Amino acid sequence: MYQRFRDRRIDRPARLRYQETFLRRDDFILPLFIVEGRGVTQTIPSMPGVLRFSADEAVEYIKPIINIGLHSVILFGVPGKKGLEQAWAENGLIQQSIPRLKDIYPQLEVMTDVCICSYSGDGQCHIGDNDRTCELIAKIAGSHAIVGADAVAPSDMMDGRVFHIRRELERIGKAGVPVISYAAKYASNFYGPFRDAAGSAPKHGDRKSYQMNPPNSAEALEEIRADIDEGAAQIIIKPALPYLDIVCRARTEFNIPLIAYNVSGEYAMIHALMEKGLAKEDIIYETLVSIKRAGANRIITYHTPWALEKLDVYQSL
Ligand code: PBG
Repeated sequence: MYQRFRDRRIDRPARLRYQETFLRRDDFILPLFIVEGRGVTQTIPSMPGVLRFSADEAVEYIKPIINIGLHSVILFGVPGKKGLEQAWAENGLIQQSIPRLKDIYPQLEVMTDVCICSYSGDGQCHIGDNDRTCELIAKIAGSHAIVGADAVAPSDMMDGRVFHIRRELERIGKAGVPVISYAAKYASNFYGPFRDAAGSAPKHGDRKSYQMNPPNSAEALEEIRADIDEGAAQIIIKPALPYLDIVCRARTEFNIPLIAYNVSGEYAMIHALMEKGLAKEDIIYETLVSIKRAGANRIITYHTPWALEKLDVYQSL
């Protein structure tokens, strides 16, 4: 006597009947790289299919994606010239882009990445001193909240930044804006294409003194716990694929909504396989559903336009 598992996968209807994990349209958060100017669209050689837009072009670009179910975006500013003050300036790139998007798409959740690396001359996410950096990070987050960001997502990995941001949001009367912190962000080799896209590569050295050490997982739980205690409403684990064990452990440990960031290198890797003819696009669905299966509530991914377009092909008869 033995069990017959193959009944569950014998044909497509059977596979769907027994499918345990599904992707939903609301699971996806689209990263948008915003550049200065008007009418600007730029390709990013290291990330096929991903573009950089001026705010007006971003509005146009997402229109058809919103029509197929896009609900959330996360903005990254790619300033024309470096200069820290640009990161919190009232008329800064991101500060001007948020209302443009919200005016046209009030239902769209607009969150912002909060960091200084694409503004600082040296491409680092800090200015040397941890606590003084937190104050800048809080100032940037406040400047995004004040113009209508729905959530702010600090990605710098300084200690105590969630505390500083929460305090600043209270101070400026924006206590209702949630902090979605990159609580467990690893010093990863998978950020290469992003640094290309955002012009944020460190000029010297690396980020190992603040981003997490890849062999550690218990420490990720401590980082997450600390951010929750400081008032984070949701947390991000990043990258996704090499850290699905962290997603899974965080899922069992905490009840807070978890977001996994399927980063630029993970995206480029999949596209490299497809371009070489070594995988068909089903590999994207497999990748995304694996992140959800591990326990993520939502996924920040450059595959979002593809996913919203193709979801039903994979999940219905
Ligand atoms: C900035 C930031 C980075 C990413 C998101 N925010 C780069 C980094 O830390 O080097 C990476 C995103 C990606 O690779 O898709 N602090």
